[in-house]
Amino acid sequence: GPYYVAVNISSTGSLANGTRYAAKGSQVDFSCSSAARPPPLLEWRFQAPSSSEPFGNNLTVNSFSLLLMSHNLQGNYTCSATNVLSGRQRKVTTELLVYWSPPAAPRCSVEASSGPSTLQVACRWDGGYPDPDFLWTEEPGGLIMGNSKLGVQTLNQSQLMDGKTFKCVGSHIVGPQSGASCVVQLRSPSLLTEPMKTCFVGGNVTLTCQVSGAYPSAKIEWLRDFTHPKSVIQSSSHHLIGQNGPNSTLTILNCSQDLDEGYYVCRAENAVGMREVDIWLSVK
Ligand SMILES: *[C@@H]1O[C@H](CO)[C@@H](O)[C@H](O)[C@H]1NC(C)=O
Ligand SMILES: *[C@@H]1O[C@H](CO)[C@@H](O)[C@H](O)[C@H]1NC(C)=O
Ligand SMILES: *[C@@H]1O[C@H](CO)[C@@H](O)[C@H](O)[C@H]1NC(C)=O
Ligand SMILES: *[C@@H]1O[C@H](CO)[C@@H](O)[C@H](O)[C@H]1NC(C)=O
Ligand SMILES: *[C@@H]1O[C@H](CO)[C@@H](O)[C@H](O)[C@H]1NC(C)=O
Ligand SMILES: *[C@@H]1O[C@H](CO)[C@@H](O)[C@H](O)[C@H]1NC(C)=O
Repeated sequence: GPYYVAVNISSTGSLANGTRYAAKGSQVDFSCSSAARPPPLLEWRFQAPSSSEPFGNNLTVNSFSLLLMSHNLQGNYTCSATNVLSGRQRKVTTELLVYWSPPAAPRCSVEASSGPSTLQVACRWDGGYPDPDFLWTEEPGGLIMGNSKLGVQTLNQSQLMDGKTFKCVGSHIVGPQSGASCVVQLRSPSLLTEPMKTCFVGGNVTLTCQVSGAYPSAKIEWLRDFTHPKSVIQSSSHHLIGQNGPNSTLTILNCSQDLDEGYYVCRAENAVGMREVDIWLSVK
């Protein structure tokens, strides 16, 4: 002999192609045995893309443990058995990959897709190796929308409804068994404002409109209601449009009765819905 080499690598799983993997930080026990007369010299050798390292030898048994697997211990582990008299050699090479799941929970978000009224839900779960898989479902009910490596799913028109909830489950080969998940809920905007405002001729007035709940965030516009079609107000020397957190403000400078008295409309719109409220401005 030797006619065979028996290799045992513990605490790892196997991929379909026979490659083994271990979770980062875990302990992996290696052992190798063979038989020959005289007893063979057993030797372990480790080969990573950037390094090569012998792990010692023993006449009949060679075992060792790596206590804290790390990325630089990913590579090929070869055990060879050599008959020191005849020089006959047998060896077995096992590729061992070191995997880890992303450190934090996945994050779900809603983004604008190609068109202005199309949305996509996106799931990010970075920092793991290899990349995780994502499954998007519609909740409640768990209707499966799609399964991908990318984690991005385009919503169709019938799914763009207020209150609709989508769940992403990220699964990783060495991650939590049940996966890690996050949810997003689509919300159309809600508006809060004062129904009436007063301005003195030559003075200034600020109309405020508070948007809440909108997901994804809403676009806010101010309009004059008395012209048809409704005309969108742009910032000018007479009108200042500002944004202060969730509040949008329209400041009218140097109020005049003929020009400025009337209805103003605050409009908030996202892909899920649109809300409008009227504000009456009287000029005294
Ligand atoms: C086996 O599969 C893994 C994951 O796809 C890959 O990284 C590895 O190189 C493969 N090994 C061989 C020997 O094909
Ligand atoms: C080889 O390993 C076995 C088991 O670990 C040990 O009992 C033996 O002393 C070792 N032999 C040599 C020569 O190191
Ligand atoms: C192991 O060896 C094979 C064949 O030489 C090589 O393709 C592969 O990249 C090696 N694996 C690692 C992790 O270095
Ligand atoms: C939109 O998606 C839902 C759920 O994935 C599906 O049942 C429906 O047929 C789709 N509608 C269109 C018009 O693609
Ligand atoms: C109105 O606002 C303008 C610009 O901020 C300022 O210059 C002006 O003094 C204000 N007028 C009154 C009456 O407060
Ligand atoms: C305010 O408006 C009046 C009438 O519209 C105009 O005569 C006056 O010049 C304006 N004042 C300023 C500071 O723009």
